[in-house]
Amino acid sequence: METVEQILEVKAMKKYFPITKGFFQRTVGYVKAVDDVSIHIGPGETLGLVGESGCGKTSLGRCILRAIEPTSGETKFRQHDGTMVDITRLDSKSLRAIRRDMQLIFQDPYSSLNPRMTVLNIVGEPLVCNNLASGDALKERVRELMELVGLNSRHMERYPHAFSGGQRQRIGIARALATNPKFIVCDEAVSALDVSVQAQIINLLQDLQAKLNLSYLFISHDLGVIQHISNRVGVMYVGKMVETATTKELFNRPMHPYTEALLSAKPIPDPRKKSNRIILAGEVANPANPPSGCYFHPRCPYAQDVCKKESPPMVKVEEGHYAACHFAGELSLRGVDQL
Ligand SMILES: Nc1ncnc2c1ncn2[C@@H]1O[C@H](COP(=O)(O)OP(=O)(O)OP(=O)(O)O)[C@@H](O)[C@H]1O
Ligand code: SF4
Ligand SMILES: [Mg+2]
Repeated sequence: METVEQILEVKAMKKYFPITKGFFQRTVGYVKAVDDVSIHIGPGETLGLVGESGCGKTSLGRCILRAIEPTSGETKFRQHDGTMVDITRLDSKSLRAIRRDMQLIFQDPYSSLNPRMTVLNIVGEPLVCNNLASGDALKERVRELMELVGLNSRHMERYPHAFSGGQRQRIGIARALATNPKFIVCDEAVSALDVSVQAQIINLLQDLQAKLNLSYLFISHDLGVIQHISNRVGVMYVGKMVETATTKELFNRPMHPYTEALLSAKPIPDPRKKSNRIILAGEVANPANPPSGCYFHPRCPYAQDVCKKESPPMVKVEEGHYAACHFAGELSLRGVDQL
């Protein structure tokens, strides 16, 4: 990892939401939404992030951008001069400056755009707020951005309602690109769209990545999308990262039983093929009151006594392939090609 110049290095990130009770809002516990997660992303690379609903994907993405305050941990981000800066320690002025380089694309193109603003104002807003452009220069930059994302720039005076879902997501992408960022968190960026439109937006994100050398943290619960777009994948379970590997490795040779279970739940494209799906017993664990030892043990078909007692650390199973399971590398788990 040290030999590659990462653009982003997240270490031991934690986000605990307090659970309060009664009139005095006494803290009676914590939802450990993100619990000691470390990741890194290289220039031009896409790290896909998967896991069931509530496992902490959005919280992790937001802590990285400091859109919410992390409880602890660090986010080191490479600046233009090549030095790394810890986002979690910046004062608000320095944070505002570095935010131009890090952006967020949301899931819902309907609610994330202000219906009373024109496309010109929506896409241009980050430039105006950062005093980067005004007047004709602003219009010219918005025109350029609209064309970059495949929108007709003659429509810049129109309001969001005049556009389709896919076009609105393109507006959101143009806005995110306005300040020339290097790193973008795409949080379920295509999940609300029809399948055919999804493909177009994914292609657009990939084209933009190649053109602008962007790095993505791509959050999705759709394994097909994750497999298509990611160079590497991280799998989260109840606030913890349980496996990371290159996309090919993770899908073909999973090392964590939870990953195997997720992969087996992936819809099989050929309806004639007999499904070999593992039915996951039990509910996903409660992040406010997780089980002892390995959080996955109540649902894991391979669980042994040690799993109830000891939390498995993340270990390197092979070069670039990490898993947090007491038996990582010892179990013979099925990848997508064996299902
Ligand atoms: N502001 C908040 N206050 C309290 N708890 C929160 C808050 N935001 C998230 N949580 C809790 O933190 C956990 C992780 O939520 P998060 O939204 O990060 O999950 P997610 O993986 O993005 O889920 P989804 O796939 O549904 O988007 C959940 O248990 C959630 O209820
Ligand atoms: S540590 Fe045990 S319970 Fe957890 S995933 Fe591995 S085998 Fe299953
Ligand atoms: Mg989410």
